[in-house]
Amino acid sequence: MNYAVEAEKLTKYFGNLIAVDNVSFKVRKGEIFGLVGPNGAGKSTLIRMICTVLRPSSGRAYVEGYDVIKHAQEVRKLIGVVQEKLILYAPLTPVENLEFFGKLYDLDSKVLKERIKELLEEVKLLAVKDKPVGTFSTGMRQRVNIARALLHDPKVVILDEPTNGLDPQSVRWVRDYILNLKNKGLTIILTSHDMYEIDELSDTVAIMDKGKILEIGRKEELKAKYNASKIEDVFLELTGRELRDEISGRLKRRGW
Ligand SMILES: Nc1ncnc2c1ncn2[C@@H]1O[C@H](COP(=O)(O)OP(=O)(O)OP(=O)(O)O)[C@@H](O)[C@H]1O
Ligand SMILES: [Mg+2]
Repeated sequence: MNYAVEAEKLTKYFGNLIAVDNVSFKVRKGEIFGLVGPNGAGKSTLIRMICTVLRPSSGRAYVEGYDVIKHAQEVRKLIGVVQEKLILYAPLTPVENLEFFGKLYDLDSKVLKERIKELLEEVKLLAVKDKPVGTFSTGMRQRVNIARALLHDPKVVILDEPTNGLDPQSVRWVRDYILNLKNKGLTIILTSHDMYEIDELSDTVAIMDKGKILEIGRKEELKAKYNASKIEDVFLELTGRELRDEISGRLKRRGW
């Protein structure tokens, strides 16, 4: 099996709204799969179905061959997720936060302690391991969040806009860390609105709009097909240059 993730005709309805519409794709083992699309395209919904957080309305998805509905527990062990929203407990230290999440994964406490130390060193937070994360900058919190996603040694890491709102130093660090994870053999699914980031990091790019994948392929093949030097040009060619000032059917709480 050469694919880490496979989706077959995945569809998600929220009431009458079709957020993900009959989407199929395959993610090769060890690659960085960049998923892009305008606001509301359905990227996060698609990811949440693969992570077993949302149940598909129809279609199937597999992670390392495990069906996300029938074998949700296995899938959860195999994937690490950095979600769009940071989910950490502000009064707790990074160590306490990671201990809490590690226990949810049922990790042995000795193994967990070691793993936390190792990860905090990797994400450069050992020096502040005993300070509440509520006092941390966005970049520092995102690094705790990344450590959290890796606690259980996942094979597939899914990052939903991991560099959104970070300063340039933190952005560079996150991008290098993602490349480092790839070099270790992990499979990565990455969403971003930063076309430069997708261009730099991705092996394969999928362009989504209005619930559908408009185009998918190896980055260089896509550029050649659209006679473009940048993924941004392919993206704008496919999704258009008009502003997308649509009113959503639900209240957006992100960041406010
Ligand atoms: N829980 C929900 N209930 C109702 N509608 C939802 C829900 N989650 C997402 N939607 C809607 O589904 C559509 C796709 O949203 P989604 O968050 O997947 O898009 P996205 O591509 O991740 O966008 P963004 O780039 O803004 O993060 C949008 O119209 C959104 O308003
Ligand atoms: Mg999203």
